[in-house]
Parts: sequence; C-alpha cells; structure tokens
Amino acid sequence: MPGNVLSLPIDSDLDVSSLRAPTAAEVLEGLAVTLLTTHTALRLIRRFRPTGKVPFSKLSIVTRHEDVQELLRQDQVFQVEGERIRRANGDGDPKGPNFLLGLQEDAGGCPMRHAQSVAGRAATSLSYCDFQSLVMKVFEREDLPRIGALVEKETRAQLNSLTWNEDRAEFDAIQTLITRIPVMLCERYYGLRIPHPADFARCAFVVSRWIFDPDADSNYDEIGTQASQRLNRIIKASLDQPMDGDTIISRLRRECSDDVIQTVVFGMIVALVPTNTMAGGHILQMLIEHEPFQDQARTAADPFSGDDDRLQRCLFEAMRFFPLLREPLRVCARDYTLAEGTHRQHRFKKGERIIAITKSAMMDERAIAHPQRFDPDRPAYDRMVFGYGLHRCIGAPIAEMQMRRMFKVLLHEYELGARKGAKMERLVTFPEHYIINLKRLTSADRS
Ligand code: HEM
Repeated sequence: MPGNVLSLPIDSDLDVSSLRAPTAAEVLEGLAVTLLTTHTALRLIRRFRPTGKVPFSKLSIVTRHEDVQELLRQDQVFQVEGERIRRANGDGDPKGPNFLLGLQEDAGGCPMRHAQSVAGRAATSLSYCDFQSLVMKVFEREDLPRIGALVEKETRAQLNSLTWNEDRAEFDAIQTLITRIPVMLCERYYGLRIPHPADFARCAFVVSRWIFDPDADSNYDEIGTQASQRLNRIIKASLDQPMDGDTIISRLRRECSDDVIQTVVFGMIVALVPTNTMAGGHILQMLIEHEPFQDQARTAADPFSGDDDRLQRCLFEAMRFFPLLREPLRVCARDYTLAEGTHRQHRFKKGERIIAITKSAMMDERAIAHPQRFDPDRPAYDRMVFGYGLHRCIGAPIAEMQMRRMFKVLLHEYELGARKGAKMERLVTFPEHYIINLKRLTSADRS
C-alpha cells in the first residue's frame, strides 16, 4: 500500500467561490427543478404528461417505468454524450480519449466481457468493450473484502477522533466520513498520492457536474476543465512515483500504457468520489428523517442477529426514496417513437436531449407494488438507483461495500439524529456538509 500524503506542485486549491454564489437565474432554475422533481409533482406528470418537453427548457423527460426502461435499453438510439468526457481526459482538448459512460457498445456487443489485450494501444483507439474488459480485469471481485476492511477501519478511526461530550457528539458526516472514505479508497486501493484530499474531492464534484450537465451550453466549461487538469496532474504525478503494493495502478501498469491508465483512473475517480458521497448522504438523510427506515436498518446491522444482505437492501431501499440527483441523460441519435402504439407514444427528434427520470420510474404505481412503502425485500428489479441497461453501474459492488460497512458501524453503535436547523449543504449538487447528532448506544438501548 502506498504512503499517505506527498507534496505535489499544486500550490492552491481550485477556486470554487463562483459556484458558492449562484446567480439569481441559477437559484430560480434550481428551485424549478426541485419543485418539478418532488414525488408529488412526478406522480402528476406520470399521470397527465408522462413524456415530453420541460416548459421553458430544451430538455425532454421520460417518467414512466416502462418508458424509462425502453429508452435506456435503446442505447444505440439514445446515446450518452461523450464530448465533455473527451475534453476532460484531454486536459481541454476535444480529441482526448473517451471512457465507458461516453462510449456506445461496439457493433456485435460484448456480452461475455471477454478479456482483450490493450497492450501497446493508445487510449483514443479503445472501444467500449476494450475499456469494459480492462476495468473488469483490474477491479477484481476478490478485492471486495479488502475494500470492506479499509472502509470499516476508516469509519472507526474517524468516529474515534470526534470530541465526545459523554455519550454524544456532533458530526459533519459528509466531510468527516462519507467523502473521506472514497478519497481514502483512491489513495489506498487505486494507489494515488493525494496531497489535498478536500480539494481533490471538490475537483471530482466539479468535473462530474460539468461532464454530465444536461445543458448543451454548460456554465461549467471553464471551471470543469480546470478541475480536470488538476485531477490529471495528480494521476500523472502518482504514476511518476515508485509503486508499492498491489493497487489498481500497479495492476494497470502490467496491462497498458500510461495514457490508458490515466483515462481509466480519471473515469473511476469521477465515478467513485462524487457518486458515493451523494449516495451516502442521501441514504443517511432518509435514515434520519424516517425512524422506521433507521430501525429496520439497525436491526439488520446487528453483528450477531443481523444480516448484511438485508442491511444492504435496507440502505438501497432508503435510497430509492432519494436517489442521485444526476439522472441518466441521453441524446437522441435518430428520430424514434417511444412507447409506440400506446396513447402516450412520443416521437423524439435526432439531437434532442432527454432525461430518463429513474426516480419517477421507481415510484411508478403501474409497475411497482406499493411504491411508497419502505420494503427492503422488494424485487431488485424495482430499484434503478444504479441505472439500467448497457451503462448500468459497473462500480455497484464497491459502492454497496462502502455503504454496508460504513452504515453497519454507524447503525449498530450509534443513534443518528438531526441537529436542529441543520441542512445538507451542497457544492454543485453534491453534498459537502451535513451536521448530525450521534448518541452512543448501550446494550440496554439495543435490546
Ligand atoms: C452508490 C453509489 C453509486 C451510484 C448510485 C451509481 C449510479 C450509477 C448510475 C445511475 C449509472 C448509469 C448512468 C447512466 O446510465 O447515465 C452509473 C454508471 C457507472 N458507474 Fe456508478 N454509481 C455509484 C458508484 C460507483 C462507483 C463506486 C464506481 C467505480 C468505482 C462507479 C462507476 C461507474 C461507471 C464506470 C459507470 C459507467 C458504466 C458504463 O457506461 O458501462 N459507480 N453509476
């Protein structure tokens, strides 16, 4: 395992002050999106106008379960835009390499994810299948116990470092724990040397917000490019260091050239840090706001009488009520009629930008039994928190491991409560701070 912190020539943090002071138009837009995507508004939209243009915007939405699945299955028609991913990987150059989520499956497909050699090839020449095979090869399932052990150790270390007032403590769960863990995994599992963890996480948030911005003309072009350059410098500097131990980077070293390593590691940082932060924050908020969710998850977290699989189902069932804010965005590659032959059929035109609202699909009473009920035992099919179809999350097992091991410690040992007046604070949609109250549980409390 590599050492912890190493001085790199990145003298000051990324200046995110402009992102902390949004313009009045941005505040209004944010408010409109929030109102439009409440469960109540989505229920009405599903009923009266399930597919179509969002008023005053160039975006369209699809809200019914059946239609969201059709759209995400038609991955050659509804494609992920890879243009900003190429710019991010190319340090601003639009001819940079693409990565998994920005690529479409090659003709013929790669259902068996067969291992293909990428040795000697440039990142720009690799296809979706090449990248998928490579990622599957180096991110081994056998790593999961090691990842789980790292997560648990970091969780205990952070909780032990809090200032306790008898059995109570106040705790910034995002900063101290939920973001800290994926950054630690980038250091200890990926093998990166990260000089300023907080800045690293902020750069990953900004890049994610930029490359998946639904707006065709993103306001984040400039700061997103700067943030990508900083992450690229950290990866390059880490590649220049001697490798010690078995890490993702040391495994990639045996398979491919530095430019391919750069692309894979960049993609997997931007997929891991912002997403696990948002997922962990949203699950935590649901457990705090809904006592029955917390009680059921706590029972499953008991190391003696509990059940890890059930705990995981409780956590991701909680997330069904508050999934990622970044919903799959697709661009229509040719004219296509969705839900053809039904009363709601809709003709999409080439070039249209469409959001498949999985949050709405997961609550669609036409497809999901008792969608408003917290039911950890519901079929996995009901949950689309990791997406659906070709681009379904390849990092789900790592994400599940973080949530399971982190929340197992939190739920078994502490009662989690809201601090009066505390709200989740965000930087470009990603949670940055969420102060909560912890109370140590005694065995009497647990019985
Ligand atoms: C709870 C945490 C996570 C959630 C909720 C989540 C969710 C998602 C979703 C919804 C997609 C599909 C996006 C789309 O269709 O546009 C996706 C794709 C992806 N995720 Fe995750 N993700 C999580 C964690 C991770 C982690 C930890 C990694 C890597 C270590 C990762 C790597 C990826 C990659 C590479 C893709 C693209 C897959 C492809 O295009 O084939 N994710 N994720």
